[in-house]
Amino acid sequence: MVKLSENQVTPEHIFKQRRQLIMGLGAGSAMAFMPKISLAEQTEDNRKALTFNAQADNQLVLTPEDKVIGYNNFYEFGTDKGAPAQYAKNFKTDPWKLEIGGEVENQVVLDLDDLRNKFPLEERIYRFRCVEAWSMVIPWIGFELNKLLALVKPTSKGKYVVFHTLHDPEQMPGQKNYFFGGGIDYPYVEGLTIDEAMNSLTLMSVGLYGKTLAPQNGAPIRLVVPWKYGFKNIKSIVKITLQEERPLTTWHKLAPHEYGFYANVNPEVDHPRWSQASERVIGAGGLLSIKRQPTLMFNGYAEQVAHLYANLDLRKNY
Ligand code: MTE
Repeated sequence: MVKLSENQVTPEHIFKQRRQLIMGLGAGSAMAFMPKISLAEQTEDNRKALTFNAQADNQLVLTPEDKVIGYNNFYEFGTDKGAPAQYAKNFKTDPWKLEIGGEVENQVVLDLDDLRNKFPLEERIYRFRCVEAWSMVIPWIGFELNKLLALVKPTSKGKYVVFHTLHDPEQMPGQKNYFFGGGIDYPYVEGLTIDEAMNSLTLMSVGLYGKTLAPQNGAPIRLVVPWKYGFKNIKSIVKITLQEERPLTTWHKLAPHEYGFYANVNPEVDHPRWSQASERVIGAGGLLSIKRQPTLMFNGYAEQVAHLYANLDLRKNY
């Protein structure tokens, strides 16, 4: 069920005003990226202000922050959309280690300081389309996955990039209780082809709305692939493995006829139980004000990614 509360709000217009004040930005700036900024304030919910290259205003209207942090799918913390905000509150995300190995020349284990020091952060305002046919617009903060891959140097056998979420049933009640966790065989695993992973849209995200990620959004580090359905955007990643074979990913394993490996946003290929032609836009306001809009091919990113699938039948490879 959709639960959209109006409390704990940083309304979108305040966020925008704050961005514009901090950046000294008029609404119509033509610059793609502004100089590095740092938000001086410390937030109420322990999320830390980040220093990043801010993206100048674009045409997309941001979803209010309270919806982005309050309406989540993170089955490790329960299947209800409000459950992650409640049950991930005390999720320990620091210290954290991210291991990258498999078919690479340089296997590495990075902690949060390594990540901060090696990868300058930038903001990307992306459309986000869940397979359940709702959508948001989110100002992510992170760095391109290809920068991380350049560090580890995939070998010629590194054809797929596989991501693993933390497995810690003591902290994640959904991993302890089969029903609470939606029947998933944890840890949650996702994967991309090496070409998808190298695409400059593909982001390792560590924050949103100027601050570190809330635990329910996948702190401290998660994947953001804006042309794919939300379930590909795996959260709280501890391991990345390069390998030659296509991995068996979590949702494909659970329901192969419903969730494919590619999971590209495609209004022409319906989910077996519902249409994917349109989406409910989660914006400001309550349930009654939710609008529907047509879904765009590759979620509006066709220009940047359609070439990756030139030789694929997208009905078979859904
Ligand atoms: N990652 C893990 N580990 N566990 C999950 O249950 N849910 C996915 C994805 N990543 C999920 C996950 C789904 S279905 C969606 S729609 C997005 O996370 C939601 O991301 P958001 O809460 O930041 O909007």
